[in-house]
Amino acid sequence: MNTEAPKGIAILGAGAVGQLIGHQLARSGIIPTLLGRDYRPLKAPFRFVSLNGEETQQEFGSADSGNIDLLIVTVKAYQVMDALQPLLPTLSRDCHLLLLHNGLGPHEALIPHLDGRCLTLGTTSQGALRLGKHQLKQTGSGLTQFGHCSGPAIAPGLKAALLSAIPGSGWVEAILPALWQKLAVNACINPLTAIHGVCNGELADDEFQSTIAAVLSELVEVAKTQGIELQEDSLSARVYEVIRLTAANRSSMRQDVDHKRKTEIDAINGYLVSIGNRHSIATPANKALVDAIHALEQRV
Ligand code: PAF
Repeated sequence: MNTEAPKGIAILGAGAVGQLIGHQLARSGIIPTLLGRDYRPLKAPFRFVSLNGEETQQEFGSADSGNIDLLIVTVKAYQVMDALQPLLPTLSRDCHLLLLHNGLGPHEALIPHLDGRCLTLGTTSQGALRLGKHQLKQTGSGLTQFGHCSGPAIAPGLKAALLSAIPGSGWVEAILPALWQKLAVNACINPLTAIHGVCNGELADDEFQSTIAAVLSELVEVAKTQGIELQEDSLSARVYEVIRLTAANRSSMRQDVDHKRKTEIDAINGYLVSIGNRHSIATPANKALVDAIHALEQRV
């Protein structure tokens, strides 16, 4: 069994999650390469303010794409395929890939292009805020889950490196049910906070109860078509727990709408609507949220 320490870890996507994972790996003694939009390693010193207010500065590595053992992809769901297509032919045949984004779907399009490489999927509830291009503040701790999706199993050395670097992280045997549970949280909180311009905590008000219930009930039916059995009661309890725990947060979709950026709606509620359509399951509550967010995205 190969338990060697990994040689090259690279992160594609230098947004809040990419920088956060980069700092956490560096603190554990593995300096990753942080790849920007043009695939060049980002060299500028990156500043990081940890949860306890400690400030550090970090320069990331400059591994060549052919020497990457693990590529952690932290771009938005709708960028995954476009960002990876030019890079895939330059990666070694045994490079592992890990997708870490909100929403679901890109792995389905990606798997046929992987030439049998190992694919791991993950989700994180850690919060981080970019204070500038090269400056990040961690704003919340939270669970991070990884699990096998396709191809050979991840090398034990890489798995151990990830789990020891990222606080609150764990490996789950069935990653898809975990990702569907996160999808349920995002499908309720993200569009509603963006449409109504409210912080997460305000979704505990009675006025949102029927929409949240309808979104979850449709999600449970759609998930069944994918062999994923979810309980509406426990999903609802989880959604309201996250609403409470992140009460003061402005959700990522609300921030995207406020900054007039494209949102992740197509990989969240849009993903549910498209699978629903494929299986003739009506998803009117999710569709109404998708339409409302698309309308907001079209404002100039
Ligand atoms: O996308 C987000 O904002 C977060 O995933 C969550 C959990 C909804 C908290 O704001």
